[in-house]
Amino acid sequence: MYFPVARPRRLRSSANMRRLVRENHLRVDDLIYPFFVTGGSNVQKPVESMPGVYNLSIDRLLTKVAAIQALGIPGILLFGIPDSKDAFGSGAYDAGGIVQQAVRAVKDKFPDLLVITDVCLCEYTDHGHCGIVHESQVLNDPTLELLARTAVSHAQSGADIVAPSDMMDGRVQAIRKALDAEGFANIPIMSYSVKYASAFYGPFREAAGSAPQFGDRKTYQMDPPNLREALREAEQDIAEGADIIIVKPAMAYMDVIAAVRGNFDSPLAAYNVSGEYSMLKAAARLGWIDERRTTLELLTGMKRAGADIIITYHAPDVARWLNE
Ligand code: PBG
Repeated sequence: MYFPVARPRRLRSSANMRRLVRENHLRVDDLIYPFFVTGGSNVQKPVESMPGVYNLSIDRLLTKVAAIQALGIPGILLFGIPDSKDAFGSGAYDAGGIVQQAVRAVKDKFPDLLVITDVCLCEYTDHGHCGIVHESQVLNDPTLELLARTAVSHAQSGADIVAPSDMMDGRVQAIRKALDAEGFANIPIMSYSVKYASAFYGPFREAAGSAPQFGDRKTYQMDPPNLREALREAEQDIAEGADIIIVKPAMAYMDVIAAVRGNFDSPLAAYNVSGEYSMLKAAARLGWIDERRTTLELLTGMKRAGADIIITYHAPDVARWLNE
């Protein structure tokens, strides 16, 4: 059917007409909000490159979490900033570690809120890599046991979902086995299956103090030009027992989100990372873009690409806008 019979503009003629034929929706239900938790009390240290984001001590975290729950956001993602670091990242799997304490405190006060924990060593190692280092190499298999211990200790503290972000091979299987052996067969794994070695993590590394002290993460995180490799990573993680798949970053990888959605039926999360957030905030501060409209457009684009879930630092703003 062609013009003049077909007139696509007929279905764009009014706000209600557009509502009726709208194909994708961004909802508060889709959002997960990340937090950076640190020791001490009454700490609320701004992350310079991420306006509105802070390093929070547990008491301040609880105040912010109350606001997140009030907005109707279903879950939060916790990153820990430990007081001290060592070669083996022992703070990551310490029963009294910062994330373990934070999970207990949050679940105690907000039992219904989903608490997801990032499982990785890079915030806890003195060299800043996501695994054990020997002679400048990041060792895969010896790292698996430490990741599994980290995940189990998060589950023991009350985490609802564990999210491994290290990109070691076989970590989903190692974590699944360890969780099952410790009585946590019902705790889901949300795997950063498709995580690229991205420049967009810059502001996060300021927030978490987790920049590698030598080299980079290119021997374990994915090479940005690759797409087919993303499908192999996702397939492998699903086979190892991943319940939810993450693609990260989001904005420069919409095609990857769409391809993973097209090939697999697992719930899919897009991680709208720190640098993506900072870019928008910076342009908005300069008055160069409309923050609300551009943010909603980008996040809705992630839904259209096929994401079910969006992990984003914009979550409180977006929830406020959507609830209006
Ligand atoms: C830890 C981790 C990183 C992010 C999430 N988990 C940093 C990295 O891999 O360097 C990045 C999140 C963001 O940029 O918002 N491995």
